[in-house]
Amino acid sequence: MSHLMNTYSRLPVAFSHGSGTWLFDAHGRRYLDALAGIAVSTLGHGHPRLVRAIADQAARLIHTSNLYKVTEQEHLADRLADIAGMDEVFFCNSGCEANEAAIKLARMYGHAQGIDVPNIIVMDKAFHGRTLATLSATGNRKVQAGFEPLVSGFVRVPFDDLAAVEHVVQNNRSVVGVLVEPIQGEGGINIAHEAYLQGLRRICDEQGWLLMVDEVQCGIGRTGKWFAHQHSGIRADVMTLAKGLGSGVPIGACLAAGKASGVFKPGNHGSTFGGSPLATTAALTTLAVIEEDGLMPRAHALGESIRGSLRRALEGTPGVVSIRGDGLMIGIELDRPCSALVEHALHRGLLINVTAERVVRLLPPLVFSDADASHLVETLSPLIREFLAQ
Ligand SMILES: Cc1ncc(COP(=O)(O)O)c(C=O)c1O
Repeated sequence: MSHLMNTYSRLPVAFSHGSGTWLFDAHGRRYLDALAGIAVSTLGHGHPRLVRAIADQAARLIHTSNLYKVTEQEHLADRLADIAGMDEVFFCNSGCEANEAAIKLARMYGHAQGIDVPNIIVMDKAFHGRTLATLSATGNRKVQAGFEPLVSGFVRVPFDDLAAVEHVVQNNRSVVGVLVEPIQGEGGINIAHEAYLQGLRRICDEQGWLLMVDEVQCGIGRTGKWFAHQHSGIRADVMTLAKGLGSGVPIGACLAAGKASGVFKPGNHGSTFGGSPLATTAALTTLAVIEEDGLMPRAHALGESIRGSLRRALEGTPGVVSIRGDGLMIGIELDRPCSALVEHALHRGLLINVTAERVVRLLPPLVFSDADASHLVETLSPLIREFLAQ
């Protein structure tokens, strides 16, 4: 009997090691990793430069405390502020913590303006994490059920629907911000239109609200730009990051700009582990490799090509609703629940995921090769066809 708390239905495999885009089990079987630990292993497995940087840093210093200056943390804050065009960064360890920081920041921003019960607009099908505040912001009842009372102060609207936000403008004087994923990951790879994000920017400017983008899954080069919202040419007031930032070493970040900066003062927020020398070194190295190896344009082009190949391979297959995505964030929506496909793929040595019940989700490492992409399409397409023909 396992002593693990029963929080995950796990697949019947354990990996012993990884190399590049492949994972290996104890029996020597290999698996092409088209999921990257859910958008985490940006540089794949065992990337020599990352391994060396982590090992060197571990030998020098793993942890001190935020009671002291942390040089690597300051460097990473400078780098993130530069690529995001933002002013300040708070470091934590995960996506939900980054969003908790954003929610706290928005509330404090609202109180400073005399709004006693600050509200944040959130979206249907959103996913922001599993702490009490972030599951309350999440637009999925399954994530919330059993944890009531939920945290109040969230107003939910349909995703990618500007009129719905305009309606809130007319009816709610307590809104302080909007929290949105530029591409909803857990919700099924739903892409916000550029005009929608630009419209949110305009409304937030007009109303004095904070535009807060959750880039935990779609950020860090995956869509061909550092951050997915940058495709629409807007700057956010608050942005949250985690997952791929440390390429597997836990790290989260909440960035603020303009009117959202300077809100937190010493004592308002904190994290024991946040921004350790080890985690920030992993993130600095991840960002350096993405840039120096041209992984962003590569993610964009490879994603286009994978979607094109999937469309050709699945053309005319009844039951395929849509093949969509941006860069290496890809969803194949079917007309029926298809979580069984995950285990079928596993048996053929391919790691994929299904989200929102009917969407096959691919989030490969940014170091995916052309040969990996062909192998992925050649393995997955017949599996989907066989599944739909049953
Ligand atoms: C968009 C988004 N935000 C937040 C989270 C929560 O991140 P974590 O699991 O690191 O708390 C996730 C995780 O899937 C996510 O996809």
